[in-house]
Parts: sequence; C-alpha cells; structure tokens
Amino acid sequence: MISVFKQMLLGFLLMISICSSCQTKESDAEMKPAFNPEKILIVYLTRTNNTKVIAEIIHENVGGTLMALELKTPYPEDYKAIVAQVVKENDTDFMPPLKTQIENIKNYEVVFVGFPTWDMQLPPPMKSFLNQYDLSGKTVIPFNTNGGYGTGSSFETVKELCRNSRVLNGFSIKGGVERDGIYFVMKGEKEMQAKEEVQKWLKKINMIK
Ligand SMILES: Cc1cc2nc3c(=O)[nH]c(=O)nc-3n(C[C@H](O)[C@H](O)[C@H](O)COP(=O)(O)O)c2cc1C
Repeated sequence: MISVFKQMLLGFLLMISICSSCQTKESDAEMKPAFNPEKILIVYLTRTNNTKVIAEIIHENVGGTLMALELKTPYPEDYKAIVAQVVKENDTDFMPPLKTQIENIKNYEVVFVGFPTWDMQLPPPMKSFLNQYDLSGKTVIPFNTNGGYGTGSSFETVKELCRNSRVLNGFSIKGGVERDGIYFVMKGEKEMQAKEEVQKWLKKINMIK
C-alpha cells in the first residue's frame, strides 16, 4: 500500500517538474527577438528615395544589413526615357546586370526586398537580384512604394522568382508621382504615417514584438 502511494507521489512530482520545464522554455522563447539582426538583409531599389526611407524605417525596427541595388549601367535621368527603357526590358525579359554584389548571401535567413512599382511590375533590377541570388529556404519579405496605382504584379513576381522561399505578406504605401513632377514625399507628416504603418505591419508578420 505504501509503495503504491510512493509511486503515485513520484509520478505527481515528475508531472510537476515536466510542466515547469515546459513553462521555462516558453517564457525563454518569448524573451528572444524574432530574428537575430545578423541574419537579416534589407535590399532595396530606389530612384527618388521614397523606397529608401521605408527601407531605413524597417532597418530602425529590425536591424540587419541595409543595401541599395545599383546597376552597372544606370538608367537615364529623364522620366520618359526611363519609362521607355523599362517597358522594353519588361517586354524582352531583360535583366540588367547589377553593380551591387552580395558576397555572403548564404549567411542571411531573412531578406527584405524593397522596390517602387515600375510599369505596374517588379522593376527589372529587382528581377535581376532575385534571379542572381539563391534565396531557397529563406524568408523573403517584399515592400513597395508606388505612384498611387498599387503594386501591380510585383508581389506575385517575387513569389514566382522565390518558389523555394517563405514569402511573407508585403507592405505598400503611396510614394512619389514622378510623371507629375512629384519626386520625394517620404518626409514630415508622411514619414510619420509611414513609420506607424510599417511598425503595424512588422508586428503583424511577427518581425517585431
Ligand atoms: C520608370 C517608372 C515607372 C513607374 N511606373 C509606375 C506604375 O506603373 N504605377 C505606379 O503607381 N507608379 C509608377 N511609378 C512611380 C513610382 O512607383 C513612385 O514614384 C515611387 O514612390 C518611386 O519610388 P522611389 O522614390 O523609391 O524611386 C513609376 C516611376 C518610374 C520612374
């Protein structure tokens, strides 16, 4: 009788100890940031700096390495000329060679990719980046600014070019309208609004707590 009681007591104590160790693990996990900043890369394309500001806001919140995409041969300054070139590149699936080189891409686990909407598509230089670097097994997070017509097919193209990655829901905000001579707008009130919206989005996708 006593030995049965002893066994029950032992079982009870064992259960308590298992439960308490589970709890410790859970609270430990809650203390940790979602990702080690050393594993985060933020790559962005910008022409008039609106997307750059969004990249910087993301960087302020999650840390990591911030990198602007640059081309071997820069686009023309003139708006009509760049539109014509981008349309042609999209029609011919031309991916312009990049000047920016990322040597240690395998060290990153999370890659934010930022770009403006161009020709209602993913800009050719971002297609070059996603085509050139293997992001298999990584988390890819798109973000965008546009002239008011939205992201077009750009987020879909990111998913298509990153079939073996975990692509999270992207962020988008209205930026400049170069066609109408409105270039850089991500300052003052607009920048504050962007900061709030970016933080809300980062929380939603569990990149910050
Ligand atoms: C070549 C080119 C094409 C563009 N095409 C579009 C478009 O199709 N839809 C849109 O809403 N905005 C379009 N825009 C406007 C940009 O998406 C917008 O100004 C964006 O905020 C610019 O970002 P950036 O300042 O980082 O360069 C285009 C701009 C350029 C230069």
